[in-house]
Amino acid sequence: MTDFNKTNASHAKSAFIITYGCQMNEADSEKLMGQLEKCGYISARALEEADLILINTCCVRESAEQKIYGKIGECKRLKTLNPKLIVVITGCMAQKNREQLLKRAPHIDLILGTNNVHGLIEAIKKIEQTHEKVVAVFDQTETFDNVPVKRGSDLNAWVPIMYGCNNFCTYCIVPYVRGRERSRLPQDILTEITELGKKGFKEIMLLGQNVNSYGKDTALGLDFAGLLAEIDESNAVERIRYMTSHPRDMTKQVIDVIAKSRHICEHFHLPIQSGSDEILHRMNRGYNQESYRKIVHYIRKVLPHASLTTDLIVGFPGETEELFQETLDFVSEIKFDAAYTFLYSKRSGTPAATMEDQVPETIKKERLHRLMERQNEISLAINKKLEGQVVEVLAEGPSKNDDQTFTGRTRTNKIVLWHKDDDDKAGQFVHVMIEKAQTWVLKGNKQP
Ligand code: SAH
Ligand code: SF4
Ligand code: F3S
Repeated sequence: MTDFNKTNASHAKSAFIITYGCQMNEADSEKLMGQLEKCGYISARALEEADLILINTCCVRESAEQKIYGKIGECKRLKTLNPKLIVVITGCMAQKNREQLLKRAPHIDLILGTNNVHGLIEAIKKIEQTHEKVVAVFDQTETFDNVPVKRGSDLNAWVPIMYGCNNFCTYCIVPYVRGRERSRLPQDILTEITELGKKGFKEIMLLGQNVNSYGKDTALGLDFAGLLAEIDESNAVERIRYMTSHPRDMTKQVIDVIAKSRHICEHFHLPIQSGSDEILHRMNRGYNQESYRKIVHYIRKVLPHASLTTDLIVGFPGETEELFQETLDFVSEIKFDAAYTFLYSKRSGTPAATMEDQVPETIKKERLHRLMERQNEISLAINKKLEGQVVEVLAEGPSKNDDQTFTGRTRTNKIVLWHKDDDDKAGQFVHVMIEKAQTWVLKGNKQP
């Protein structure tokens, strides 16, 4: 997780960044902080102490937007206390709602769109000189190379391999706020990863809204499978992860490369969204139960110990009790290690927002509850099988809630907790015997 907000000194200007949304936003925030450092800002310890507050926003669901409007409101109060405070709004909501933001929150000094991440230095200089509002929201730019990055961790790093999304799933706002797919050049990606390895990073997460379509927008002839193989062969870092894979575009080649590789983790995050063919069709996902099942069977054939996680949306327009039941049954059949479950949220401008048969909120919530209960039972049953086994863990640091406990993750992305001792250090690979498995975490003892 990105954690810039650590240090402070009374003489320097300081900035506080709040990041909402997905990993792509986390990665953008690291580029935004990198640029703020170039403008002379250091990380503020607290929101109240900052000379500049940057809110990197998400608009994937309405709940996210409401929370963010609350935070923007809080900045208004802080600005009355400190009129010199600079308030910056970036990210997907900035891209989508710039007019509304300006009207609703005149205390905002700078609105920077998702295609303007590299334009922060110029915009800040302008504000500091003229004290005038700046709005920079482009429809499309290429990629953001050569932007200074202030990494939030020195263990695992985000590495975007492509920007944007061409899929237009009917519920989703992302293609409207992130633009069309643009792949980074393989040599730029490899150079970045090699440097990360030299600096001691142990794990990288390759990022894209649909990593499986990497390279399709270029004439380079290198696809995602090829890119993964090259990164693996470079031996630059110990662990390679990636997200997100679209089940429609997942290929046997990619799975084969992962099976043969040394460094690519055996964790597949394949968002299914629904287990009903009818709903999947209405969502424009481009796969069905049968094709999804085939991928999962192939993964389990070549990598029997791989983990599989997913995203699910309940209450998509037209989801009847019967169709929801199909999702429940499919979840029971596939047996995901974990699922991130969401209530369908209407996003205006998307095709699903105007579809008939919107599902009432109470029914959505009740279905979400049933789905989570079913999934939790499955997650627990899968994790229980690990009791008594020794797993390899990359140690990440003391637990946030309990400093006597150390935490890390397996290659399959399971969180493991163990009793901390003096030798425990972030970045080490340790072996832990699992004593007690729970739904979301595994507890165990470190092996000598
Ligand atoms: N590109 C990725 C992730 C996109 S957003 C992918 O395709 O998987 C992350 C998750 O948010 C999605 O997988 C989906 O489950 C959820 N999501 C997107 N739009 C949503 C909406 N309008 N309402 C509820 N959940 C949504
Ligand atoms: Fe949204 Fe679909 Fe693109 Fe994912 S693949 S970002 S869900 S449109
Ligand atoms: Fe949210 Fe934008 Fe990511 S809408 S989920 S921050 S791409």
